[in-house]
Amino acid sequence: MQKKVFHFSNSSVDYYFGGRISKIKEVVGSFKTVFITDENVFSAHEKQFKSRDVIVLKAGEEYKIQPTVDSVIQQLIEMEADRKTVLIGVGGGVVTDITGYVASIYMRGIAFGFVPTSLLAMVDACIGGKNGIDVGVYKNMVGIIRQPSFLLFDSSLLQTLADDEWRNGFAEIIKHASIKDAAMFKELEQNDLSFYQKKKKDLGVLIRRNALLKTKVVQQDEFEKGDRKLLNFGHTLGHALENQYGLPHGQAVSIGMAYASSLSQKFIGFKNANKIVSLLGQYGLPTFVEFDKDKVINVLKMDKKKTRDSISFILLEEIGKAFIKEISIKELYENL
Ligand SMILES: NC(=O)c1ccc[n+]([C@@H]2O[C@H](COP(=O)([O-])OP(=O)(O)OC[C@H]3O[C@@H](n4cnc5c(N)ncnc54)[C@H](O)[C@@H]3O)[C@@H](O)[C@H]2O)c1
Ligand SMILES: [Zn+2]
Repeated sequence: MQKKVFHFSNSSVDYYFGGRISKIKEVVGSFKTVFITDENVFSAHEKQFKSRDVIVLKAGEEYKIQPTVDSVIQQLIEMEADRKTVLIGVGGGVVTDITGYVASIYMRGIAFGFVPTSLLAMVDACIGGKNGIDVGVYKNMVGIIRQPSFLLFDSSLLQTLADDEWRNGFAEIIKHASIKDAAMFKELEQNDLSFYQKKKKDLGVLIRRNALLKTKVVQQDEFEKGDRKLLNFGHTLGHALENQYGLPHGQAVSIGMAYASSLSQKFIGFKNANKIVSLLGQYGLPTFVEFDKDKVINVLKMDKKKTRDSISFILLEEIGKAFIKEISIKELYENL
């Protein structure tokens, strides 16, 4: 396994690209470990969890909540996990978010690492140290920014991932391309989901490219004072739709990106909104949903990106070039 070290403001993270979960011992050495996963990943990859201490969560965003955190903490106490125990989140973004959060508060903080198992977690959720949970309809309302010790990328785990979940991962990949990487946008236009599912090498390159893109953004702005905010493209409206209507994260973000592209057109004359919408469609993602404007605006008012009566919205100037614009709630309401 090839190790690459990335430095953040007060820690460093070891990335293992082309890794294998079966070689996890090479990463954690003799430390006591507790694996945290969900029931789907556990049953699809049972062999990998044999003779390990493992906590299996119910699968799904609806369990990314405080009672799950309480139950994990209770189990850690029963397993006699101590300050030297390393928590390893093996799963999609829900598992990695919960694992990172629990590790950050258990005994005032213990070490943790991730083996992302969904495409979305590999290219996005496992990177950057944001760990947290939802509160009611408010996404990621409670949490912390704290980096893991390691990330192990094993793309063979994706063999058991459902097609819809692959599509959700592509929502974040298209987001990265839209805000930062016009060349990747072109590459994506020339291919499709089944291409990447078949061509392991191209998939590996794509995952690495996205992981590095996000890493670079986070390294430059770990605590989200500026450029990191661009990663929220499609997420402001996306989050509001996600928990309000129970949409999967990737689908909600896809619809959010379509709206943000059309707002970019209205507000600053962005010319390629149609290209964004058609690329999302090419990867099987939705770009429109009927929603109750008042309900969604109410959730938006509580968004963390909101200050007083306006919201920091991410707009596109051109493909590969995004920027932040303050939009008043009123203006947004009129243009939704
Ligand atoms: N922390 C961050 O910076 C960050 C960034 C992006 C997204 N997120 C969070 O990530 C979450 C979305 O992540 P997700 O899409 O991975 O969701 P998820 O964790 O719910 O996984 C999606 C589904 O795929 C299943 N699954 C995962 N890997 C599998 C595998 N290899 N084989 C079979 N089934 C598998 C899961 O059990 C689940 O049912 C959201 O909660 C979002 O807020 C966090
Ligand atoms: Zn996202």
